[in-house]
Amino acid sequence: MAIEKVAVIGCGLMGSGIAEVCAKAGVQTIVREINDDAVKAGEGRINKSLDRAVSKGKLDEAGKAEVLSKLSFTTQLLDLADVDLVIEVIIEDTGIKTKLFGELDGICKDSTIFVSNTSNISITELGASTKRADKFAGMHFFNPVPVMKLVEVIRGVLTSDESINSLVEFGSKLGKAPIVAKDTCGFVVNVLLVPYLFDAIRLVENGVASIKDIDTGMKLGCGYPMGPLELLDFVGIDTTYHISVNMFEEFKSDRYAAPPLLKKMHLAGLHGRKTGKGFYDYTDPKSPVPMKLS
Ligand code: CAA
Repeated sequence: MAIEKVAVIGCGLMGSGIAEVCAKAGVQTIVREINDDAVKAGEGRINKSLDRAVSKGKLDEAGKAEVLSKLSFTTQLLDLADVDLVIEVIIEDTGIKTKLFGELDGICKDSTIFVSNTSNISITELGASTKRADKFAGMHFFNPVPVMKLVEVIRGVLTSDESINSLVEFGSKLGKAPIVAKDTCGFVVNVLLVPYLFDAIRLVENGVASIKDIDTGMKLGCGYPMGPLELLDFVGIDTTYHISVNMFEEFKSDRYAAPPLLKKMHLAGLHGRKTGKGFYDYTDPKSPVPMKLS
């Protein structure tokens, strides 16, 4: 089925990026947030990102106007009745997500495909909250969405081939490279990424090298755009901690056990860039300074 009209539910950091790439691909995109303030904040995020593209010469004012013409905003779920695809990008809470999908099931047309951008909640469990498990899948984007080329398309146990094919085609239309994975906690990327990030934290805990040297090691030694500790601050210490709790619960493997320092940083509110402090202090965002952590 061709996907021509999309709803993006949640317009935070990831949702605004997803809405932007959908609109840039010429897809009619309706964004739903819970209240007018959240709509305004989401709209502001998209505008800022488009202005950045204009200032870099990647988009002209006419192109920006064209993108904006594809976007509309609402606080009402009822306005999403006729979309071909719903992309859910709300808080990582199974109960809140299943309640939302249950409501949408009664509102959207029978052919609408539902996807969640969750990074670690079971797609099969979310799909079971609807009567359309065959049209339910995961579509996991990466931050910053306008830049990162990957999208993971996740197949729940009951997802149909037809739905997966439509989503792969849609991901390509967005300019992304879709990869398909089974519904396993962390899918492909986080199954590999999380143990790597945790090993970097263990190096800090064991005093093997300084924060800066660990990051420099992976950037210059392996050509990564960010070192693991910079990346943890970028993704969010709180987000990574919550991912690890779910992954450990699923696999019961030390590979996914949160290092004590991660938990302490989470509890101390050192959540990374979003709170201004994590492994680095971002008081001057242009030159972050490594934190003294004990
Ligand atoms: N929105 C739009 N464009 C952005 C952007 C944003 N938020 N941030 C950066 N860009 C663009 C810039 O405009 C620039 O574009 P041009 O090269 O065309 O001018 C380009 O990206 C590079 O940006 P900068 O020069 O400002 O900075 P940089 O070279 O340091 O790159 C970065 C920034 C793209 C974030 C890069 O450091 C990077 O790729 N980091 C790794 C990000 C990563 O691994 N993300 C995945 C995290 S895991 C995840 O998301 C999933 C999960 O479940 C945890």
